[in-house]
Amino acid sequence: MDIKDTHILNQDIIQSAPLVEPARQEFFMDRCHDLIEEMIITDGHRPTFHVETFGCQMNAHDSEKLIGILSRIGFEEVDTEKEADFIIFNTCTVRENANQKLYGHLGSLKKRKESNKNMLIGICGCMMQQQSVVDYIKSSYSFVDLIFGTFNFYKLAELLFYKLTETDKKTVVEVLDVPETHVENLPEKRKYSFKSGVNIMYGCNNFCTYCIVPYVRGRERSRTPEDILSEVNRLVDDGCVEIMLLGQNVNSYGINFLDESDIIKENPDYDFPDLLNDVAKIEGLKRIRFMTSHPKDLSDKLLDVIAENPKIARHIHLPVQAGSSRILKAMNRRYTKEDYLALVDKIRAKLPDVSLTTDIMVGFPGETEEDIEDTLDVIRYAKYDQAFTFIYSIRSGTPAAKMEQLPPEVVDKNFERVLEEVRKVSAEASSRFEGQVKNVLVESVNDHMDGYVTGRMDNNILVHFPGEPELVGTFIDVKLDEAKGFYYLGHSL
Ligand code: 5AD
Ligand code: SF4
Repeated sequence: MDIKDTHILNQDIIQSAPLVEPARQEFFMDRCHDLIEEMIITDGHRPTFHVETFGCQMNAHDSEKLIGILSRIGFEEVDTEKEADFIIFNTCTVRENANQKLYGHLGSLKKRKESNKNMLIGICGCMMQQQSVVDYIKSSYSFVDLIFGTFNFYKLAELLFYKLTETDKKTVVEVLDVPETHVENLPEKRKYSFKSGVNIMYGCNNFCTYCIVPYVRGRERSRTPEDILSEVNRLVDDGCVEIMLLGQNVNSYGINFLDESDIIKENPDYDFPDLLNDVAKIEGLKRIRFMTSHPKDLSDKLLDVIAENPKIARHIHLPVQAGSSRILKAMNRRYTKEDYLALVDKIRAKLPDVSLTTDIMVGFPGETEEDIEDTLDVIRYAKYDQAFTFIYSIRSGTPAAKMEQLPPEVVDKNFERVLEEVRKVSAEASSRFEGQVKNVLVESVNDHMDGYVTGRMDNNILVHFPGEPELVGTFIDVKLDEAKGFYYLGHSL
């Protein structure tokens, strides 16, 4: 990637770029494409890239857009970091160990970067929204080429253009405090041809006292129903049969719309259940999932819409975080243990075959033996099919970081107890469908069992059964012969 004497040209080109999005990014994607074509002539091969994604579904979906942009520019995607000329780390910072993982990767890349003038390294995502992290990377890993945040990832082509045409070796850094603009219709390259995530909103307003997300992803912004429905329509035309509506708290959809919307003008009370209803009307779409639901905002209307609509998956991810009302208050969750259990009852009454999953945190400041008993109690009562358990991780800048922290030995012991209860309950809960026939979406060929494929039921549970690779992407009825804890073995009918 030898680009010489382009400094002057670079300035001319930048000044001629359109000022308004998305035309500006189209322009830079074209300019980068020209540069890549030049490189192919000089270097004799098409440069490759790999995006390494950490964290949640939101990041995974953002990465599909980064991959879309790089593919459009002319890079070739490869499966591993090792084969890539350009590596992008899309980072997570919800827990400290995610930060440590990134530093580990960067440390191991230093030598390779020094010996390979063609190599590029970019870092983006939630971790980059923290000034201290950016400063640390700039001083300790100065070989990093690009740093950008969550609000401007759509600008990848523009930032890459600066880097490729820059004659000095500085890291190109652009991290914004708040979004400048919102860009629809970015290119994206989906991991699966038959299913996709669709963002319905960005950011979070809840400020749970342990959580860094509202600081790194900003305040809640909702996409208009028009934009969401047209994206889903496009995905369905392109072969998607399942979509997952994504937001930090989908139940509060409707805050701060990003664009003008006739639908909202006509119905200012339009909410998440209305959106689900409208999405479900799209012909050709077979299954709809959504994530995540804050318990304080889950409405009766939502349960009614799910109950009336067989396309909407019988699965609710309902993070409880802790069982004790005292700890929930300190976490600013705005529900009590009793509220949560009553909600579980209501959900099970309206959706008898629902699968409930959750997130649980252990070790929040001030948590006592009694509080842990409350958490165990909720786990037993809610009978989760699956629960993601986390050890509380101190995030600087959050209110909980200033509270008195617990000794790690106590937390580790409690964590084991919670994990054990989760294992027991979910193995039992998720075996309750043994002997039944369920419709599954076949997602992949099974890598571990010859001649088997793996499908997912509408309640999110996996089933492995003998089948041909051609079944991938189709729905099929499967008899669940044997419950294996977190999955089933079965056969197709
Ligand atoms: N420490 C540990 N886990 C956390 N989560 C959010 N913040 C923290 C933290 N500081 C967990 C919550 C959330 C999930 C996505 O990550 O359980 O639901
Ligand atoms: Fe974090 Fe709470 Fe928002 Fe979830 S709802 S992203 S835990 S602040």
